Amino acid sequence: MHSLLFEPMRLGPLALRNRICCLPLYLAYPGPDNEVNDLVLDYYAEMADSGAGLVVVENATVEPCGLGNPRTLLASDDRFVPGLARLAGTIKERGARAVLQIHHAGRYARRPDRIAPSAVTTWGVTPKAMDQADVDRVVAAFAAGARRAKEAGFDGVELHGGTGYLLTQFLSSRTNLRTDAYGGNLAHRMRFPIEVLAAVRGAAGAGFPVGYRFLADECVPGGLTLAETTPFAGELARAGVDYLSVMIGCYDSFSLPGYVEADREEGFMAPFAGTIRAAVPGVPVIAAGRIQRPETAERILREGMADLVGLARVIFADPLWPRKASGEILEPINPCAPTCSLCTKRIVEQKPAFCARWPEERRERFLERVGG
Ligand SMILES: Cc1cc2nc3c(=O)[nH]c(=O)nc-3n(C[C@H](O)[C@H](O)[C@H](O)COP(=O)(O)O)c2cc1C
Repeated sequence: MHSLLFEPMRLGPLALRNRICCLPLYLAYPGPDNEVNDLVLDYYAEMADSGAGLVVVENATVEPCGLGNPRTLLASDDRFVPGLARLAGTIKERGARAVLQIHHAGRYARRPDRIAPSAVTTWGVTPKAMDQADVDRVVAAFAAGARRAKEAGFDGVELHGGTGYLLTQFLSSRTNLRTDAYGGNLAHRMRFPIEVLAAVRGAAGAGFPVGYRFLADECVPGGLTLAETTPFAGELARAGVDYLSVMIGCYDSFSLPGYVEADREEGFMAPFAGTIRAAVPGVPVIAAGRIQRPETAERILREGMADLVGLARVIFADPLWPRKASGEILEPINPCAPTCSLCTKRIVEQKPAFCARWPEERRERFLERVGG
């Protein structure tokens, strides 16, 4: 049967060589200076060399109080532009399109000065409820982050609305208890992410795609579900978003038994992408979630659940996934193990992540390089 996966496509103004997206995967590779370093460059070179059409770079944070981990890329100052430019160049010279994800962790920031829509205690710390000055500053910080991404030579930016971070904290009535124009009914709770999108659009200018990492379901009791996220997707489409990259789950659900079980299922997030795609005709949608076999990827595209398939842990475990899927390399794919969480454990410990499925020699070389 004809392969859809290797059909070129357009993402707004960008021509992609295929429909495979290397999803953002934060691996604690930057150092405490929050700069692009050789470890980061080598990882993204490998991801671009994988053959994926689109490479989305992990959570570059737009202001220091939004850092989810001290060892995270920053895009909060012009001094980070040269490093980001090396990163964009490394990806693009390998024939992939490079998008920078821009980010603010809000209540999930590992910082004493963390801020959030409301003072909801999180991991034992109560964040400051954002006042209007904070709102205006963060909107401007996202816009400046997008401007820096463009100056650095990225092909586009993606707003990180996934994993329950700041943009989602405004959308969810669990974490947004405000009584002003940014809280209350759904229209009010959408206001902040829509303002961020508008500001980023303005800063990015025409011809520079702005995507959105989209949380379709928080997977917690009382959390966001498709009932509220589907109309939000429509609002993002009306505001001119260039693509939606759909995921489910947040920090409050990642350890719940129901989520842990779902996460072991191949393609488990794809039906959510399908529902969102049906609500935003004409806006490309990326599906994620343990898309382990090329047959599953083809099925997701063929059944209209998504326009692109996204791989994170899957392509980290086997960076040859696209070449094996295309038949260029005639070896079996080395699958991410469904019951393993080594990469997540390493980043929680603030140590550079590696994959338990890598060959032993590669694991040893990596540990030697990063000092254990
Ligand atoms: C260790 C780790 C780091 C992640 N970092 C990011 C990130 O920086 N930005 C983001 O949008 N999603 C992030 N994700 C979510 C992934 O992009 C992806 O949606 C999820 O892992 C499911 O795809 P997979 O089964 O191929 O891993 C991360 C996931 C893991 C496990």
